[in-house]
Amino acid sequence: MILDNISIINFKNIAEIQISLSQGINCFVGDNGAGKTNILDAVHYLAAARSMHTLTDSQCIRHGEESFLVDGRFRRDDERKEQVVCAYAKRGGKTLKRNGKEYDKLSEHIGCVPLVVVSPADTALISDSAEERRRYLNRFISQIDRTYLQALIRYNAALQERNKLLKMSPAEDMLLIYDNMLAASAEVIFTRRKEMIATMQPLVEHYYALLSEERETICLEYRSEMEHTPLLEQLLNARQRDFVNEHTTCGPHRDDMVLSIGDYPLRKFGSQGQQKSFLVALKLAEYTILAERCSERPILLLDDLFDKLDMRRVAQLLKLVGGDDFGQIFITDCNKHRLERTLGEAGVEYQLFNIAQGSATTL
Ligand SMILES: Nc1ncnc2c1ncn2[C@@H]1O[C@H](COP(=O)(O)OP(=O)(O)OP(=O)(O)O)[C@@H](O)[C@H]1O
Ligand SMILES: [Mg+2]
Repeated sequence: MILDNISIINFKNIAEIQISLSQGINCFVGDNGAGKTNILDAVHYLAAARSMHTLTDSQCIRHGEESFLVDGRFRRDDERKEQVVCAYAKRGGKTLKRNGKEYDKLSEHIGCVPLVVVSPADTALISDSAEERRRYLNRFISQIDRTYLQALIRYNAALQERNKLLKMSPAEDMLLIYDNMLAASAEVIFTRRKEMIATMQPLVEHYYALLSEERETICLEYRSEMEHTPLLEQLLNARQRDFVNEHTTCGPHRDDMVLSIGDYPLRKFGSQGQQKSFLVALKLAEYTILAERCSERPILLLDDLFDKLDMRRVAQLLKLVGGDDFGQIFITDCNKHRLERTLGEAGVEYQLFNIAQGSATTL
């Protein structure tokens, strides 16, 4: 998937910008706060209809304005053209259009523009709670698996209802209806997550070895109580506890993806460099799986490239993503010379854009 052109209006510090992009590596350079990440976030809106950060739509409107709009002209790998427009107005809400037609539900768009982001915020995957890792898995798997997405939507709806009910001392048979609903969708969620993590494992290992030139064994592991006990049985066993807590204390909304290095938890025992290489390897594994399942090379956003890796590893990464297996890439860095030197070292072609105060000039 190639984004040939993007127009952005009143999005964060960008008043109005139109950029014609290269189908290979696009680099945005400029000072801190210039608006480099904001451009990547606008691209993210075209894929996911939301910010890649924990920002609400209205926080993305340029201060003092009423609405923003992002318009992307894409070209699929088979040369078919696509237009995606995402707009948000304080009064009218959010609209997402593909080729002029508005979606009824935003979730219908998921997977249409495959995209992988590597950003400084990824460290939350290591440092934060299991919720962050579940959110990551959910977003990733939903991009390629409609059945998963639908099971997740059904599960969350049933969970909400069950939790509401628990607060009202309900009849047991009423609860059982929800238990059955949860168990059915949980089975899909559990199986697909388990499969996906097993598929990712060798890929993450492969990319980690390429990037780090180190030999530690790394491991991704899905941790779920459903491994031992079917959810329906767990729910019955936990019923009294659930009444006391007034919410559902078991199920895939409590699962985790455990990351470890040399048999120890990555968070506690991985060095900074090891943690960052692990995260990049994880994202590259995601890229490879998405590319295969969508039969379309995803767009890759590498925000603040040098935040993650030193120069030698960045050069290693650029050599890798500059190859034919990868498609269009967006890179940001605040140091133009460092980036150019490393790109030169990797021997890859690129287009450079200078970003200052929310506007772009080609270099
Ligand atoms: N809603 C908004 N309206 C106007 N300006 C905003 C809004 N949200 C963020 N900004 C501005 O956007 C700028 C940050 O842009 P961005 O994060 O893209 O910078 P950057 O070029 O990636 O910088 P760095 O190199 O530090 O990562 C800040 O100056 C911030 O004040
Ligand atoms: Mg930035």
